Amino acid sequence: MSFKNKVVIVTGASAGIGAAIAVSFAREGAHVAIVGRNEAKLKDVAKQCAAVGAAPLVIKADVANDADAKRIINDTIQKLGKLDVLVNNAGVIEFGTIMDGTILEAYDKIMAINLRAVVHVTMLAAPHLVKTKGNIVNVSSVAGQMQSIPTANAYSVSKAALDHFTRGSALELGALGVRVNTVSPGPVETDMLASFASKFEVQQGQNIQNVLGRVSKSEEIADVILFLASDKAKGITGSVYVSDNGTLLK
Ligand SMILES: NC(=O)c1ccc[n+]([C@@H]2O[C@H](COP(=O)([O-])OP(=O)(O)OC[C@H]3O[C@@H](n4cnc5c(N)ncnc54)[C@H](OP(=O)(O)O)[C@@H]3O)[C@@H](O)[C@H]2O)c1
Repeated sequence: MSFKNKVVIVTGASAGIGAAIAVSFAREGAHVAIVGRNEAKLKDVAKQCAAVGAAPLVIKADVANDADAKRIINDTIQKLGKLDVLVNNAGVIEFGTIMDGTILEAYDKIMAINLRAVVHVTMLAAPHLVKTKGNIVNVSSVAGQMQSIPTANAYSVSKAALDHFTRGSALELGALGVRVNTVSPGPVETDMLASFASKFEVQQGQNIQNVLGRVSKSEEIADVILFLASDKAKGITGSVYVSDNGTLLK
């Protein structure tokens, strides 16, 4: 799946799934703009991209900050000339419950990054994607289709909303030649899962309730994203593509 001369933005590319997505696109010949807040981690991912392909454009930015969101798109267009693929991957998890009065704080923090920032960056990127007949892949979660942990209610709500935003965006932008899809992972071995797992005293790779009894590597999710972003998926839009080791079946 060659992405030679394609320009790809990956948000949340300083770690985990986003880092794997960035490296995979670089390996396939893309010019990648990597976005995150942690400069040291971005530099490390930039080195990994440069080792397999072109050195990426590093954009230190907070997707939830409106000025930063504009800078992500403007810098990419100014320095890389166009935009073919937007991967909205940046996301956070916060915990809170209704009864202990913490859900609203968690909801506000999560929605600002997992949903509002995606809506904003999509809106800013869309005119450029229309020009290239490009596409968008959003990184959701099976949590958007199931409620299994009461303290993660706000996170699940953000991902359910993201799935629906994907459908609405696909509906609007499809008429202009732009596809929009979502990938919904189950558990993936990243810092997010580690923090989550330690909170619930679950060892990574153990006590995982899914059909295949395993935790995915970030590269597996990157593979699905590259497929959806490629011409091989030219007939796919508005889909929520699940890669969860059978988590939703349990
Ligand atoms: N790991 C899993 O089991 C799992 C399962 C299902 C779905 N997901 C989803 O997959 C995506 C990636 O998660 P991950 O597991 O790779 O998490 P991670 O290892 O914690 O990485 C999260 C990435 O998002 C970035 N980020 C967070 N807030 C940001 C902001 N305001 N602005 C810019 N970048 C921001 C972080 O970078 P900085 O800290 O540098 O800003 C980091 O690069 C998320 O959307 C998550 O919900 C993960």
